[in-house]
Amino acid sequence: MEIRVEQLGKIYPDGTRAIDGISFKLSPGEQVTLIGPNGCGKSTLMKCLIGLEPPTAGAIRMDALDLTALRGRALRRLRARIGCVFQQMNLVPNLSVIQNVLFGAMGRLGYWRTLDLTASAALRAQAMSALERVGLADLGGRRTSHLSGGQQQRVAIARMLMQDARVVIADEPVASLDPRAAAEVMDLLCEIVEERGMSLICILHQMDLVARYARRLVGMRAGRIEFDLPADQCPGERIEALYRS
Ligand SMILES: Nc1ncnc2c1ncn2[C@@H]1O[C@H](COP(=O)(O)OP(=O)(O)OP(=O)(O)O)[C@@H](O)[C@H]1O
Ligand SMILES: [Mg+2]
Repeated sequence: MEIRVEQLGKIYPDGTRAIDGISFKLSPGEQVTLIGPNGCGKSTLMKCLIGLEPPTAGAIRMDALDLTALRGRALRRLRARIGCVFQQMNLVPNLSVIQNVLFGAMGRLGYWRTLDLTASAALRAQAMSALERVGLADLGGRRTSHLSGGQQQRVAIARMLMQDARVVIADEPVASLDPRAAAEVMDLLCEIVEERGMSLICILHQMDLVARYARRLVGMRAGRIEFDLPADQCPGERIEALYRS
């Protein structure tokens, strides 16, 4: 899926200008890493991209569709193609691991059919193979809140595998993980994205992870894009300048 963001703006109802004229294009299968200081608008941009916050200016096109003009069923269908892995893992803590993974099929099948089908053998087999892919085959029956942070992020990735996602939006997916778990989850995420030819937009804060994983690096500051460069051509000063007050 190709994503085009055109002159996007977002002013929250309380007057906060979170995004101030952002444009970029993401080709199918492309991976981009987004960095910038706290409050510069990264999460707001992600929320606009998944249709969770309506932008107040500009347009978001996914292939030929204008996300901001879609409503109801058409919007849900498009959203089903966007996988999310967030810092707050937005899993349901009181449900089992496998139930959380099964919810990944909801956007594709609809709420009631997913509930109906959570008992269906085919869907369960698919969820099991997603859990296997992320290395959690033995933990399907576990209560999700009893897993470690790294394991919970793997559940979120397995849930995304149940979608027909073409794009993955990852908002600080490894923020609360120790360095080793962070690298494992990032490796897994990147492998899966590549395997399936999905596009990835990933917000990272730790510069060692940026150095290791970023290909195309987009730097944001105060609601704008300051640079958009191949990571290996991005001077350290430009990154430092983002964080200077
Ligand atoms: N629902 C909201 N209502 C009003 N203002 C908001 C809302 N959500 C975010 N903001 C404000 O919008 C700006 C951008 O916030 P955003 O969460 O997008 O930043 P961020 O780059 O993701 O920061 P961080 O690195 O801390 O996650 C901030 O000034 C924030 O306070
Ligand atoms: Mg954020």
